[in-house]
Amino acid sequence: MNIMKARYLFIIILLGLISCKEQAPLPADAPEGEITQANSIDGKALYEQNCLNCHGSLATTYKKDVTPTQILTGINNIVRMQYLVFLSDEQILEISNALSSKNPDNISPKISNAAPSGKYPGATTSLNLAVVTDLASNCYYDSIDVGVDEMNGQLFANADKTSHQKAIILSPGASYKFYIHCVDTLHQNVTKVSQLITFSTDLDAVDSTPPVITSTFPNEPYLGGTERAKFYLNSNESASCRYSTDINSNYDQMNTMDTTGTLGHVQTLNSLVSGNSYTYYVLCADPTGNISAKETLNLSVLANVNGSILYQNHCTSCHGSISNSSKSGASSQEIQDAINDIRTMRVESMLFLSPTQIDAISNAL
Ligand code: HEC
Ligand code: HEC
Repeated sequence: MNIMKARYLFIIILLGLISCKEQAPLPADAPEGEITQANSIDGKALYEQNCLNCHGSLATTYKKDVTPTQILTGINNIVRMQYLVFLSDEQILEISNALSSKNPDNISPKISNAAPSGKYPGATTSLNLAVVTDLASNCYYDSIDVGVDEMNGQLFANADKTSHQKAIILSPGASYKFYIHCVDTLHQNVTKVSQLITFSTDLDAVDSTPPVITSTFPNEPYLGGTERAKFYLNSNESASCRYSTDINSNYDQMNTMDTTGTLGHVQTLNSLVSGNSYTYYVLCADPTGNISAKETLNLSVLANVNGSILYQNHCTSCHGSISNSSKSGASSQEIQDAINDIRTMRVESMLFLSPTQIDAISNAL
């Protein structure tokens, strides 16, 4: 060895020692003076101490499947690797073995970004079990920690097989526990430790408050001669309301009102008879199925058909008081035609006037 070469080697060894100190601190319990790297033949440990800083972890390194010769070439040619000359041929072989993707001890898929976790609202109906793998893999899950071959279900993978998920249907107030194993597609190496995923759902506050029927209309008899009329209910929350003439009817046996589902509810009655009374029972159910107290509507139609009151209620606003109405002397037919033909008169309250009532108005006019 000439002087130049010796000096060169000295510098390399010095650099190596400095690097070792920085990059691979000795274990705290290492006997003093012993250089563990130089004695160890554990390829994985050797890799982690000497190569990881520059080439990344065993699982992710792009130096996978390198031969001892390639490593030696690196040490001989790459300036930053030259201080690694202290590695023996045996150690380089072990490092090469550790880097082999056929070595199941070292190259198995690693799971990250496992989800979900924590607590979710009880109304959550479904969540995705999800994991990410560093290697292209197929992933499996089970509610107990069994081996991959015994696992019950498989997660769906994306195109490069590194992102995996599966929708799980949930119930309120439940706890969930899943174990996941992944098998890499290239060498069928299995994750060394299963990934545990736990999460739960809240027990939702259940609505047990029935709706309240806050008011009903009308509270006065319908005018004499009324044959068609409406009654109305209001409820304090959105509800679906039903009615019946039978006091013993339950909600299911009743008739659904014409208009219902929100806060105001309407039902049209036909074939009413003057002088008669009608009793309707109503119940309202909220969307959860809570049913209100039964309300009673006492409806009636006055016996006397009073033309001047009917005129006052329906016609005065447009045609003046009955004593000086612009329509005095109008016949029943003219009134009926006007209701059918004049747009402003063709409103529901007019259309609901019975022939008897129109006759009475005509007589009053
Ligand atoms: C201080 C940084 C550093 C350390 C430590 C290091 N290398 Fe390198 N290595 C490099 C650089 C830089 C290259 C050249 C660029 C490349 O190929 O990535 C390289 C290249 C290589 C090559 C390719 C050589 C070729 O000529 O094709 C191999 C194989 C290699 N390193 C293996 C290793 C192994 C095994 C270890 C541990 C014993 C190691 N390296 C430690 C920096 C380092
Ligand atoms: C909202 C306003 C309005 C109300 C309420 C109303 N009318 Fe009229 N009515 C009209 C208008 C507008 C006309 C057409 C112009 C006209 O003839 O005065 C009309 C016309 C008529 C005519 C004449 C039709 C024709 O062919 O010449 C009669 C009869 C009549 N109304 C009777 C009544 C009676 C009875 C009532 C109550 C039951 C009534 N109207 C209520 C607005 C109204």
